[in-house]
Amino acid sequence: MALILAIESSCDETAVAIIRDGKLLSNVVSTQIEVHQKYGGVMPEIASRLHAENIGVVLKESLEKANVTLEEIDAFAVTRGPGLIGALHVGLQCAKTLAFIYNKPLIPVHHLCGHIYANEYIEELQFPLLAIVVSGGNSELVLMKDHLDFEIIGKTRDDAIGECYDKVARVLGLPYPGGIPIDKLSKEGKHTYNLTIPLRGEETFDLSYSGLKTNVINMVHHMEQKGETVNVPDMCKSFQDVAVGLVVERACKAVKEYNVKSVIIGGGVSANSYLRSEMQDKMTALGVHINIPPMWCCTDNAAMIAKVAEHLYERKVFAPLDIGVDPNWAIDKWNEF
Ligand code: KG4
Repeated sequence: MALILAIESSCDETAVAIIRDGKLLSNVVSTQIEVHQKYGGVMPEIASRLHAENIGVVLKESLEKANVTLEEIDAFAVTRGPGLIGALHVGLQCAKTLAFIYNKPLIPVHHLCGHIYANEYIEELQFPLLAIVVSGGNSELVLMKDHLDFEIIGKTRDDAIGECYDKVARVLGLPYPGGIPIDKLSKEGKHTYNLTIPLRGEETFDLSYSGLKTNVINMVHHMEQKGETVNVPDMCKSFQDVAVGLVVERACKAVKEYNVKSVIIGGGVSANSYLRSEMQDKMTALGVHINIPPMWCCTDNAAMIAKVAEHLYERKVFAPLDIGVDPNWAIDKWNEF
């Protein structure tokens, strides 16, 4: 089988991985988190510049770790979207250049397919399956009846869940990325603040996080204006119960409706301890197999892009060199570019 090099640069991680016959030979990730922490969130222009600065070093390290040369690579895969437009461009230009110089196929990969297929490092996907993709930029419930067959059955109508975590953390004075401190502090807090459950009573698999974010921000501001102190761990716990509760409730409903065999979670927010334990408990109670990915493949990396690329290589899903990025690429259009 082929030797594939994959590049990921959709947000604030510059990553290159190399895979052969399903075996990961290297997986190098350079994160920009410390730089963006100063701003309380990802600064797109800075992200693009740092990708441009770092991609050469990450590429070199990945080749060295895999002990292969560029001449040996059979195809170059890259995240084409969704993500930050400038950040995506850096990865795509790098992959295009390599594909051109070495006259090898260019494989465009959908970032969220990557989050789903990261689970293949743990076990084979069992169809039909429900994928819960929860990250800083996306929140979707995706039904898969077979490999590369994606049907979006629900998605956020506004903000992504990770974005909501990050904004709530900011108003509570917690560092970026907000999911990590909120998850940690929730364990010390109690559910004492009464936040409104989004889309309550609506017959939908959709999600919504903009109202919940505003709910917390307004509550905190009102308390501050009245000179009251916000109990941060309690607010974290109250928020997390609602934010995660919504995803879990939708997942349970979808499992029953679509009679799926297994459920997988993916994306940065799938690192959340409460989401992981709730999904484990609820899916086990429903008699459905649940795949909880290890932490290393929850956040952005190129290993997950490489996994999808193997499937695309087999089907000869290759792109011409004049292809562009798509910051809003829909997962069910993964082969349209
Ligand atoms: O998938 P990811 O690395 O980047 C993309 O958005 O593509 O996800 C980053 C998001 C951030 O919003 C971050 O706050 C969230 O994942 N996150 C978490 C946790 N760890 C990271 N959210 C909740 N709980 C966590 N433990």
